Amino acid sequence: MSDLFDSPIARQLTELNAKKKKLKTQSAPRPTRTRILTVSNQKGGVGKTTTSVNLAAALAVLGQRVLVIDLDPQGNASTALSIDHRGDIAGTYEALIESVPLGELIQQSPDFPTLWCCPATLDLAGAEIELVNMESREYRLRTSIRDYLAAEEAAGDRYDYVFIDCPPSLGLLTINAFAAADEVLIPIQCEYYALEGLSQLLDTVQQMRQHLNPRLEVSTILLTMFDKRTNLAREVRAEVVGHFPEQTLDAVIPRSVRISEAPSYGKTVLSYDPEGIGAVAYKEAAMEIAKRGEE
Ligand SMILES: Nc1ncnc2c1ncn2[C@@H]1O[C@H](COP(=O)(O)OP(=O)(O)OP(=O)(O)O)[C@@H](O)[C@H]1O
Ligand SMILES: [Mg+2]
Repeated sequence: MSDLFDSPIARQLTELNAKKKKLKTQSAPRPTRTRILTVSNQKGGVGKTTTSVNLAAALAVLGQRVLVIDLDPQGNASTALSIDHRGDIAGTYEALIESVPLGELIQQSPDFPTLWCCPATLDLAGAEIELVNMESREYRLRTSIRDYLAAEEAAGDRYDYVFIDCPPSLGLLTINAFAAADEVLIPIQCEYYALEGLSQLLDTVQQMRQHLNPRLEVSTILLTMFDKRTNLAREVRAEVVGHFPEQTLDAVIPRSVRISEAPSYGKTVLSYDPEGIGAVAYKEAAMEIAKRGEE
């Protein structure tokens, strides 16, 4: 019997319950002004979209008003949030290229009443090229978001957070996100090549600060797909914390089947498996982000 209580599963459950208890005792402060975060990493498949939608949902669960801008032609964030993004739906493309106000494009999440999303359709793939010859091509998303936020605030409906889910590249779409945001959130997958390409990303952010957006800062690094049983994951974590002690969140997102299954049901893990380790980890990360914003 004592073996049962000392098994890895029992330990995991005890740990999960302790985390849930701790979360219950905390509350997320509203930021004093809307925080605009771009979730970026030119590496593909590191968890940008998963992090955008699940953090957004976790903050909505914690009582915050949140907007997700799907800036990836793949439209994965729209899918995960069950937001219609078929070919004839207007979305981020129309905001960028045709200056359609965001207020006419966003849709409310069916699962979370304080979560909204501007969908992406495949049209957005063409925007990368169409933007090249447009006036203020780097600032089009910034103008669109600022105009919308100002209108909402004037109407007494201030957003607390905007998350921009970027495609895996450093092209004009991502540059628009860097120009629009105040903060960069970099998800890092706990794999062997985790830090490869990171210096290029940081160089780009530095250039953006110099030329387009002096306010931009890498505020948050989140380790994703963490498997605590492997030495590699622990080594990657130690290395990232060594380089970015201030920015790296204590919360890490474990590798979890539930997290990867949720989008196929049009769900975030917060609605698909609200009591599981994935949802709890994203809530912990959301709480930390909210509290850090206070400092
Ligand atoms: N914590 C996790 N546990 C298990 N699977 C995960 C986790 N996070 C993400 N995944 C899975 O890994 C894959 C890549 O994740 P995601 O789509 O979020 O990455 P991305 O950086 O947005 O990719 P892209 O560069 O294509 O936009 C997806 O299949 C997703 O379901
Ligand atoms: Mg993605």
